Amino acid sequence: MRVLVSGGAGYIGSHTVVQLVAAGHEVVVVDSFANAKPSVVGRLEALTGRPLDVRSFDLTDVDKTEHLFAHEPFDAVIHFAGFKAVGESVEKPLEYYENNLGSTFSLVRAMRRHGVAKLVFSSSATVYGAQAPVPMREDLPTSATNPYGWTKVMQEQVLRDVAASDPTWRIALLRYFNPVGAHASGTIGEDPSDIPNNLMPYLAQVAVGRLEKLLVYGDDYDTVDGTGVRDYIHVEDLAAGHIAALHQLGDTRAPVSTWNLGTGTGTSVLQLLAAFERACGHTLPYEVVARRAGDIAASYADPTRAEAELGWRATRTVDDMCADSWRWQSQNPRGYPEG
Ligand code: WQD
Repeated sequence: MRVLVSGGAGYIGSHTVVQLVAAGHEVVVVDSFANAKPSVVGRLEALTGRPLDVRSFDLTDVDKTEHLFAHEPFDAVIHFAGFKAVGESVEKPLEYYENNLGSTFSLVRAMRRHGVAKLVFSSSATVYGAQAPVPMREDLPTSATNPYGWTKVMQEQVLRDVAASDPTWRIALLRYFNPVGAHASGTIGEDPSDIPNNLMPYLAQVAVGRLEKLLVYGDDYDTVDGTGVRDYIHVEDLAAGHIAALHQLGDTRAPVSTWNLGTGTGTSVLQLLAAFERACGHTLPYEVVARRAGDIAASYADPTRAEAELGWRATRTVDDMCADSWRWQSQNPRGYPEG
């Protein structure tokens, strides 16, 4: 299929592009490079062994988005593009709503106008909100505790309503748990633009010496060791889930489907730290501090629907995730080259 990948220069998008090309699909990437460095394109071309067709613009530009679909055929779209920093969304809610919702409106409007009906959407376990029981199942109600989370809740609702208005749509809502890790080559990986908010890239930067120590946000949760428990999923497993969803959209009768992409296994902060120490071969300093506002004790998936309906399940272990993350970080201490 000829697949448009929005945000294809980003962390999850780039890993998915490699697997799409390997699966024989023709890929066009559209990315504003607001959250990605252009140097990732060369890394992707080296990994895929062919030139990458990249269009550099923002999907909120309705005219450019319409022009792309008016002049080129696409069989499907995988929509990764969007702002995703929880803390930043609290500081800049209007920018988050405008960008995340606006890009989806612009994209879906152009798809509808030009008969492109297959869409795989990057959603998040964050839509389960703060009170959800674990393991989290797709039929739970959705809510959010921050503007980023609300943009995902709202985009899901928009897409459900679009699918209800025209049953020729085939839409997959993929709810990611905690994506971590990197391609086994170590040439592409997670490259936060500032000090990482998320645990795994923060651990990686402590391990490589860019950061002094990990601050553990609370050890008084009702969990195995008091620290927060999350469902970490290898980005390569996550990418494979997108390929499986893309292929399923050709067969499913449902206009819209929702699938968790998680392992179903929870790992605590201190357990992940220990795994990363095994990967990098040295101890990592940490200090327990107060809980982070908005954090929940535990989050992990019920992954059975994706296994039953997509024939997909995550296979990589937490040690695999840490080993691949460490290889990327140690080979790229400052992340991707600038420019
Ligand atoms: C994991 C655990 C922290 C950093 C976030 C977004 C979510 C999704 C995934 C987009 C928690 C603890 C973390 C640190 C720590 N993103 N921690 N010290 O919060 O589960 O989810 O990323 O969809 O929307 O909310 O991931 O990696 O930030 O935190 O102790 O320096 O690590 O308290 O228990 P989170 P995280």
